[in-house]
Amino acid sequence: MVVKIFGVLLSLLLVGVLTAQLLFAAAPFSSDKHIKTGLNCHSCHETEKVVAGAKVGMGKCLSCHGPYDKLVKRTDNLILNWHENPHYGELDCNECHHGHRADENTCRRCHKKP
Ligand code: HEC
Ligand code: HEC
Ligand code: HEC
Ligand code: HEC
Repeated sequence: MVVKIFGVLLSLLLVGVLTAQLLFAAAPFSSDKHIKTGLNCHSCHETEKVVAGAKVGMGKCLSCHGPYDKLVKRTDNLILNWHENPHYGELDCNECHHGHRADENTCRRCHKKP
């Protein structure tokens, strides 16, 4: 009996863990989203072999997403438009969109609103 209850509790725990994993699964990184749309490493990286320390300049991003004004229009619906600010001008994409780690929002350092 005790063993059975323990078994049930254990399965409940497992179900809980699996659900949590589904709910809190990390959003894919910027590069993953691009690969999903059919692009490849070379869409961003120009070199034959992509080595540690590789960088991608903003010009590359803008060659597909630019000019900046177009980007500003895409996110015009936001209360605080990340792509348009009165402080820094046209910020490098990599300030917020990282190729292979989670995006961040540097405006949040000071602005609490979404
Ligand atoms: C959407 C554009 C994009 C795509 C697609 C992309 N990358 Fe990157 N990658 C970046 C950016 C941006 C950086 C610079 C990261 C940084 O400075 O934080 C980078 C950096 C790197 C680095 C250096 C990482 C380091 O920490 O030294 C490697 C290696 C790399 N990429 C490999 C790849 C490979 C392999 C692919 C294909 C599977 C790929 N990348 C696809 C944008 C991209
Ligand atoms: C070869 C063209 C190309 C390049 C280069 C490129 N992108 Fe993209 N990107 C796309 C396409 C296509 C999509 C999917 C359609 C869309 O949202 O525009 C996309 C989508 C995105 C998205 C939206 C992802 C989401 O949440 O759905 C972001 C953010 C983005 N790109 C940022 C970048 C950044 C930053 C760089 C430079 C490191 C970059 N892109 C380089 C073509 C490109
Ligand atoms: C100050 C932070 C910041 C900078 C700098 C920035 N972005 Fe964004 N961007 C965001 C945030 C926040 C979103 C909305 C949430 C998300 O997709 O992560 C977004 C969304 C996007 C989208 C998707 C728009 C849509 O239709 O949903 C694209 C494409 C994009 N950014 C490209 C770029 C490119 C290319 C650059 C550089 C030229 C850039 N961003 C610079 C913060 C930034
Ligand atoms: C170091 C702190 C800091 C950062 C980072 C920051 N801001 Fe601000 N921002 C301020 C302050 C301070 C004000 C003026 C007080 C206010 O209106 O809240 C302001 C005001 C603004 C305003 C209103 C300006 C006006 O004309 O009324 C906008 C829009 C704005 N910021 C957008 C942004 C965006 C977008 C980012 C990210 C790219 C950003 N800010 C990053 C501190 C910051």
